[in-house]
Amino acid sequence: MTTIVACVRRAPVGILPVIGVDRRSPRPLYRQLYDGYREAILEGRLRGGQRLPSTRSLAGELAISRIPVLNAFEQLLAEGYFETRVGAGTFVANSLPETAIRPPRVAAPAAPAMSVPPAASARGRRVGRRAAALVRDAPGPWVGGVGAFNVGQPPVDRFPVRLWSRLVAKHARRFDERLLHYGPPMGLPELREQVAAYLRTARAVRCEADQVMIVSGSQQALDLAARTLFDDGGSVWLEEPGYFGARRALTLAGARLVPVRVDGEGLDVEDGIRRAPRARAAFVTPSHQFPLGVTMSAPRRLRLLDWARRTGAWIIEDDYDSEYRFGNLPIPALQGLDRDSRVVYFGTFTKLLFPALRLGYLVLPRDLVEPFAAVRRAMDLFSPTLHQAVLAEFIRDGHFERHIRRTRLLCRERRTALVEALSERLGDSVEVLGDEAGMFLAAALPGGVPDREIALACAERGLRVYPLSYCYIGKPARTGFVLGYGGVPPGEIARGVGILEAVASAFGVTAPARPDADARRPGASGKKVARPAARAGWRRPSSPSATPSGRR
Ligand SMILES: Cc1ncc(COP(=O)(O)O)c(C=O)c1O
Repeated sequence: MTTIVACVRRAPVGILPVIGVDRRSPRPLYRQLYDGYREAILEGRLRGGQRLPSTRSLAGELAISRIPVLNAFEQLLAEGYFETRVGAGTFVANSLPETAIRPPRVAAPAAPAMSVPPAASARGRRVGRRAAALVRDAPGPWVGGVGAFNVGQPPVDRFPVRLWSRLVAKHARRFDERLLHYGPPMGLPELREQVAAYLRTARAVRCEADQVMIVSGSQQALDLAARTLFDDGGSVWLEEPGYFGARRALTLAGARLVPVRVDGEGLDVEDGIRRAPRARAAFVTPSHQFPLGVTMSAPRRLRLLDWARRTGAWIIEDDYDSEYRFGNLPIPALQGLDRDSRVVYFGTFTKLLFPALRLGYLVLPRDLVEPFAAVRRAMDLFSPTLHQAVLAEFIRDGHFERHIRRTRLLCRERRTALVEALSERLGDSVEVLGDEAGMFLAAALPGGVPDREIALACAERGLRVYPLSYCYIGKPARTGFVLGYGGVPPGEIARGVGILEAVASAFGVTAPARPDADARRPGASGKKVARPAARAGWRRPSSPSATPSGRR
């Protein structure tokens, strides 16, 4: 039985190319088809190895008899443009010489138009000012990919993939028609219920399910908030240094970015008031400041809420990884303190589960639900529903909580491995900041160290270290690296720090000899490793040739 099924299995269908056939033309139909296919191959629109439709289906689609199709195919086979594979069908020949293929005639130049600054464009090939600003601010090769020390990488190596696939298969099999239609812009009700219950309990967020909007990751939450709350030129406070994702979304919305100092208590509200007292909003990461790792103090939280209440400003709170705290209990969300409904709160499943899921949530003051939903309808309408249903069950059945508990322990181990390796290899030349929580820490270097150049040189050796200076809008007050450890196994951590040390030392960052190194390891003393950078040793390389990559 299986053999018969395998034998009669139908070959996959080839895509119908755009080939015009005019029945009123004096040119025979077979010739029109032949010319059309030949032209498409020579221009590279059809490529070697691409499957062709069967003569029967092509004739059916074009509403012509099969005979001209057979004649055209025979001719193209004879001339070597097509080839047949027994039992598989007809394909564009793989063996056509590259030289036979001419590039299509297109109006646009081959160079990416985005790299052309709008003002420099003589022929009117403009992109918008905001897009051009984003191109200028594009990150270097330290983002993307996997491995040490990619900042955005959670411990996906421990994600329960089999369990998740089982749930996906179950929901796909169930074939609930609801999941195939347009979904609600606020998200699936069952997931919104689960998220609201989780946030009330674990994050002390004051919310009901009707205030929760499911979004495609926190980048979309930021985009939505920026589009909904801002008009052109409205000012927004951004933590300095701060999260580049917020900087990008707010640039895209045409907001005026106002960098506000961050100190040991988080965002310096007085500095914000001095710089832009009537700003439309403030963007903050109060539970775990990105990238310095500071927790916003209670007086600062109250001061920020007070400023927002008095001026009518919004607070945009990014609560992206607060589940992972190692030394003390989780810090409640700022939103829970808000008595005037001024906080737009959001979080993401990127850190708790995996980035490719692209699911997150916004918790909105009630009067903002309608405007946010209206803006969402003008954007992507809603997030894909199948994974929302899967996630709702994953949370409801306790898998979510179990996974967080497991990965919290894992992140703690990886954090310790990274802190120890940094202490061992780079010693006093780095100051470790914000290692009490999350999945990244900042390794600050003494003033003036060229962190972007070191990051570029590291990227050439397959290591991703995020330059701290890239987190500043204005002149960087500190340089160093933001190092993600959540997704990096301990063996790779040690190897990565070895590469970082080698590259950094070529730039003159040296670890002074420390005879008591063993006694000062965090595991040995139980003390924190952070040390003032003032004691660190850094000497500028004597000549540019000391730059290992040669890139300046
Ligand atoms: C401060 C901050 N917010 C949010 C995110 C997650 O973004 P998303 O949910 O769009 O993947 C990250 C990821 O690195 C982050 O660092």
